[in-house]
Amino acid sequence: MCGIVAYIGNRQAYPILIKGLHRLEYRGYDSAGVALIEEEDINIYKTKGKVADLEHYAESKNTQGTIGIAHTRWATHGEPNDVNAHPHYSENDSLAIIHNGIIENYALLKQALEAEGYTFKSDTDTEVLVQLIEYIKETNRCQLFEAVQSALKQVVGAYAIAVIEKGNKNEIIAARKSSPMVIGIGDDEYFIASDVTPIIEYTDKVVYLNDEEIVQIRRHEPLKIVNFQNEETKVDVQKLNMNITQLEKGGYDHFMLKEINEQPRTIVDCIRGRINQSATDVKLSGVIDHKEKFLNARRIIIIACGTSWHAGLIGKHMIEEFCQIPVCVEYASEFRYSHPVINSDDVVIAISQSGETADTLAAVELAKSKGAFIYGICNVIGSSIPRATHSGTYIHVGPEIGVASTKAFTGQVTVLCMLAMAIAKEKNSIDHQRYLSVLKSLYSLPNLLQEVLKLDSQIKNMSLIFTYAHNFLYLGRGYNYPLALEGALKLKEISYIHAEGYPAAEMKHGPIALIDNEMPTVVIATNDSVYEKTISNIQEIKARGGKVIALVTKGDQIVSSMADYSLEIPPVDECLAPVVSSIPLQLFAYYIAINKGRDVDQPRNLAKSVTVE
Ligand code: G6P
Repeated sequence: MCGIVAYIGNRQAYPILIKGLHRLEYRGYDSAGVALIEEEDINIYKTKGKVADLEHYAESKNTQGTIGIAHTRWATHGEPNDVNAHPHYSENDSLAIIHNGIIENYALLKQALEAEGYTFKSDTDTEVLVQLIEYIKETNRCQLFEAVQSALKQVVGAYAIAVIEKGNKNEIIAARKSSPMVIGIGDDEYFIASDVTPIIEYTDKVVYLNDEEIVQIRRHEPLKIVNFQNEETKVDVQKLNMNITQLEKGGYDHFMLKEINEQPRTIVDCIRGRINQSATDVKLSGVIDHKEKFLNARRIIIIACGTSWHAGLIGKHMIEEFCQIPVCVEYASEFRYSHPVINSDDVVIAISQSGETADTLAAVELAKSKGAFIYGICNVIGSSIPRATHSGTYIHVGPEIGVASTKAFTGQVTVLCMLAMAIAKEKNSIDHQRYLSVLKSLYSLPNLLQEVLKLDSQIKNMSLIFTYAHNFLYLGRGYNYPLALEGALKLKEISYIHAEGYPAAEMKHGPIALIDNEMPTVVIATNDSVYEKTISNIQEIKARGGKVIALVTKGDQIVSSMADYSLEIPPVDECLAPVVSSIPLQLFAYYIAINKGRDVDQPRNLAKSVTVE
């Protein structure tokens, strides 16, 4: 979702901004633009489409300047076109702005500005904000910083903004509320961005802006950050520990394929230092430090969106089975508006790869305001959700660039399993032999993932047979039901084929009506406690002429003889089977999308990090 890059320093800004926009492409967007100050004027170039289209458009233009702001837009207000793309000029072209987020009261503000004679070129809420800043600046005859500060006091909504001013090459004003923003500190230069990816190759010193903070970024001067009450806040410089190679494709055709293949290593990183080498103990400092909260929890509420929500469903099974604590799993977007009953002895677990999903962040704030203890399971270090929670565990799978989440999902389930084990051990609610067996499985996950990745060419070939199906059903039971949802989501996201995930036994209450020889069903039928029941469900499909692709445990004869195609998964403790079985489902979706010529890393209409409601 929308991306911001800005630069002020001694180098030419344009190449840095364009490179930064490319780095932000993974977030999902539909137009791009850049504004540069050269001599006295602000030059804006923007266009619908990709960053490459912007580069092409700006080829013959003046792209000089050592200060500039740039943006990739994911349309909310107004269709994706050249005019609605950012940056936006103010009425007199004296200011330019880029903005992530939504100004909720933009219609009222627009009306008031129109009454003052302001006109609008675009349909965006962003243009309203830049006009308001200009109006305040001119009527109050104040500096840009004060004008931004005063305008933001009138704004309801979420934003990360950067503003520059005609004739002022020395200053960028930036601010945030509920939308991420980070400032990189280089050698007499500053980089501003919505996440660290455009910054990382220039500096490892960053400052994360907090909510309701405004920063004055002036050439050759230290940063000045104030909050909305105009109190100066401490500039907290942090060191990034991520490198540029983590952001490259590493020889793979797509980030998604790279990220699928990285999983044996990312799981090593995820469990490192948490499970001892003899796989007899698990330690999560986030749990140890707040042991009483988990031991006394009357209930655990998991909040998340998308793939993270699916991981949460698996976490529910684990925590209920091993810790005997009731767990409910809520979509963050529903939770926040459902008048949730939250008690101070509830533990809320927020799961988010990006750590920036607006609904999850808002749900965290809501639960926090009701006194619940909040535990985060996130990937992006220093992002908003980990900073808003009381404690948590990073999944440590490295940057995930492909829009469709893959390695984050397996990292989330792995952390949830370690969390369940850590609580269960403290609560004494798990049989010791089972505890040891789950830890052993956790420890062996990287090897199992390596093994299951060998299915790649079998899946690639099989995908050719199914590329032109219009609908798919994914079935699973118990621990594998959430995986059925996740498998279907992967296919939808990147191939645009309609796919539905269902609990296998529920099929007969509706979806069975859809079964015929044109509707393939993917059944996760690995050898677990509901294996026999799943066999009955496969028979029901076969009896109606349906085609079955089955995921079976290595050596399985029964399901393999019934299914049209089967993929063999190495045996693993049933609670961790979704981690291993997710890989063939990810590869299947990937190859179908490739066969259909889809843009797998940046599927249409989707965003990697959904920072608006
Ligand atoms: C978007 C992404 C999904 C992701 C969801 C939640 O929809 O496209 O892949 O699962 O957001 O994101 P989060 O960062 O909170 O896990």
